[in-house]
Amino acid sequence: MTNWHDAGPADLAPGTTSCRDVGGGKRLIARDSAGGWHAVAAVCSHALLPLDAARIRGAALLCPHHGARFDLATGKALGPPAWTGIAVYPLRLTGDRIEIGL
Ligand code: FES
Repeated sequence: MTNWHDAGPADLAPGTTSCRDVGGGKRLIARDSAGGWHAVAAVCSHALLPLDAARIRGAALLCPHHGARFDLATGKALGPPAWTGIAVYPLRLTGDRIEIGL
C-alpha cells in the first residue's frame, strides 16, 4: 500500500527542480522539459553528494558534481561516472499540492 506524503506546492516550472523534506527525508521534485512531474532521491549514486542543484536535460537529471545523468522516469543511470540508478517515487498532484508515495 502506498502512503502518500505532502511534498508542498506544485509551483515548479518545466525544466526545474526543488529539494524538499518529505516523509522524514529529502526528496528531489523535478519537472522534465516537457512538463512531466517526477520525484527522485535527493542524493547522487556516484559519490553520494546532494542533487539539490541538479539540472534538467530533456527527460534526464544532470548531477551538478561530476555530470552523471539519470532517467527521471526510471532513475536509471544513463552513463558514467554513475553506474547505479537512483530511487524514484510515485508522485501525484492534488489540487495545487504535490504528494509523493513512500
Ligand atoms: S556525485 Fe553525482 S556525478 Fe559524482
